[in-house]
Amino acid sequence: MLKVGVIGGGSISQFHITPYLLHNRVELVALCDQNEQRLTECGNQYGVTHMYTNYKDLLANKDVDAVSICTWNNTHAEIAIAALEAGKHVLVEKPLCMTVEEALAVEAAAVKSGKVLLVGFVRRHGNNSNILKQFIDQDYLGEIYYAKASCLRRLGNPGGWFSDKSKSGGGALMDLGVHMIDLCWYLMGRPRPVSVSGNTYSKLGNRSNVKNLSFYKAADYDSSLNNVEDLANGLIRFENGASLAVDVSFTLQAKEDQVSVKLFGDKGGAEIEPELIIVTEQNDTILNILPQVDNKSFDFAGSFTNEINHFVECCLDGKSPVAPVEDGVEVMKMLNAIYESAQTGKEVYL
Ligand SMILES: NC(=O)c1ccc[n+]([C@@H]2O[C@H](COP(=O)([O-])OP(=O)(O)OC[C@H]3O[C@@H](n4cnc5c(N)ncnc54)[C@H](O)[C@@H]3O)[C@@H](O)[C@H]2O)c1
Repeated sequence: MLKVGVIGGGSISQFHITPYLLHNRVELVALCDQNEQRLTECGNQYGVTHMYTNYKDLLANKDVDAVSICTWNNTHAEIAIAALEAGKHVLVEKPLCMTVEEALAVEAAAVKSGKVLLVGFVRRHGNNSNILKQFIDQDYLGEIYYAKASCLRRLGNPGGWFSDKSKSGGGALMDLGVHMIDLCWYLMGRPRPVSVSGNTYSKLGNRSNVKNLSFYKAADYDSSLNNVEDLANGLIRFENGASLAVDVSFTLQAKEDQVSVKLFGDKGGAEIEPELIIVTEQNDTILNILPQVDNKSFDFAGSFTNEINHFVECCLDGKSPVAPVEDGVEVMKMLNAIYESAQTGKEVYL
């Protein structure tokens, strides 16, 4: 049995809590949120017995074996390190933290503790990602030399801490770019990034004036402060010569929201968003292969369930994390390099 505590009881926490409650080898024993009212509401809703407003008190509870960290990005490193030092296994939401220095400190703490650290790169746990990964591992795409990913929201700055750079570390790139870059990089075989060029723009603000369109919001939604970018793009070059182009927005004068993730290899190509499709050539004919699957696109709740189930297996059965801390460090390097390149107007060499 794995006894779990969840730290941060806001919008994303339900996607951790629900699969924990449904898991027959898990007991959800503790919950922490610095917002006492939210803590009480959430704790009562899920029947959690130990409730804390300070994460340190939760970590001092010897009954807790493992934690999910679902707090603001600026707290991830501090809480993850404290949890590892307290002997807990850790699932930390993406991004791993805000800077490369922090990421390296979390990595050092994870190595020293010998505990599990799984980074919440939830898109690695999508069924379609797993299906495509199997095709890639069996060399159906050959050498993947180019990937291109977009997550363009026309309206979707979640507000609150997300739009306060001191708490989030950045805007669309930190929140959405992290998923796009990680998924492509993972499926490309995690080649070493060597140089990065990027641009960020803060042209439209958060457009809180816009009516009649709903979007994901922080639990403490507040549109009064916004100092993060609304658009970011980047081109990442890898040691093996492959490259990855990415663009992401919180808001953009676009016709509609758009998510697209494409990989191009010398034997085949694939799209995982907007829906899974594999492209190849046989008998001098180009084939578009449509896998017959339950969800053609990314299944949000199902992927979180897969992630939580995997975390439990890592903790109880010694399985190796699909998204280990060192991958969180590499992704943090790429994200920070895009910001640095945007600021200096120059390519950044890693
Ligand atoms: N994997 C995904 O697709 C995905 C989606 C959304 C958010 N997230 C990540 O999840 C995390 C939380 O996002 P959210 O949307 O739930 O935000 P949220 O604002 O809705 O909730 C965060 C909660 O954490 C609490 N909190 C913050 N700092 C704390 C601290 N030091 N101690 C105790 N409680 C604290 C806040 O009071 C709040 O209730 C972020 O890191 C975000 O990037 C991941």
